[in-house]
Amino acid sequence: MRATPKRIAVFNHKGGTGKTTTSINLAAGLAESGRRVLLIDADGQGNVGASLGIAGQRTLYHVLVNGAKASEVAVPVREGLDVLTSNESLAAAELFLAERPNRDRIMRERLGDACRDYDTVVIDCAPALSLMNQNAMVYADSVVVPVACDYLSLVGVKQVLRTIRNVRELLQHDVQLLGVLPTFFDVRNRISREAILTLRNHFERRCYDPIRINTKLREAPSAKQTIFEYAPKSHGAEDYMRLVQRVTAVAATGQRAHRRAELSAAS
Ligand SMILES: Nc1ncnc2c1ncn2[C@@H]1O[C@H](COP(=O)(O)OP(=O)(O)OP(=O)(O)O)[C@@H](O)[C@H]1O
Ligand SMILES: [Mg+2]
Repeated sequence: MRATPKRIAVFNHKGGTGKTTTSINLAAGLAESGRRVLLIDADGQGNVGASLGIAGQRTLYHVLVNGAKASEVAVPVREGLDVLTSNESLAAAELFLAERPNRDRIMRERLGDACRDYDTVVIDCAPALSLMNQNAMVYADSVVVPVACDYLSLVGVKQVLRTIRNVRELLQHDVQLLGVLPTFFDVRNRISREAILTLRNHFERRCYDPIRINTKLREAPSAKQTIFEYAPKSHGAEDYMRLVQRVTAVAATGQRAHRRAELSAAS
């Protein structure tokens, strides 16, 4: 049996910071590098399905509310990449969660075993401080936070950090900040340059290299393609491939550390 998959929530309560673009291209890039990936749309806007040109007959709603198996509901979209879509019915799923005794942990319970078929799960979160996002954070083991390179987005970062801390302390789940991802970076723009400096000063190695503003990234969803398919030589593809490499490098280091710990425990 495979080990539990790595579970990455792409989260920022602020809207339009590049969460869906990041989720899709991170998941697609990980799948291209040979991993088996499940991409979960945890946002009732359904932007993941719309961007890849799919609508599952059953959705995350059916997994959360009816207990359907994620691997049976997920739609295979590319080699190594399955997607669990969502639509407006997710609002009803949230009402269902609200009435359950362990309301923060339903996603973890429902997805737990079913997702052992995958190496990595990527969760595209909605721009909200919602019960659904609490569920996503309690299911995830790490969080990537896309932050647009502008002043108000930087202000919002504090709130994101507070949310992660609350999940750790109040919900007692050890979710880690994997990295902060500056998005919509424009080197000609002073605010963009200042935003990067601020994020690097604060997060040091956990501040990833930025994703530049790139028209191809905006166009790819209308062609129902990932950036690697739509414009493989674009800045967008280059930047997202760098993110994929960073995330896989961290995963490999984590696995080595885990093996070292196992060896020393065994000796
Ligand atoms: N680096 C980029 N350069 C240009 N356009 C981008 C870039 N990243 C994302 N976009 C575009 O910006 C818009 C918002 O991006 P996206 O949907 O990924 O954000 P989001 O955080 O998921 O939004 P929401 O909070 O509504 O879920 C989309 O039209 C997307 O195609
Ligand atoms: Mg989105």
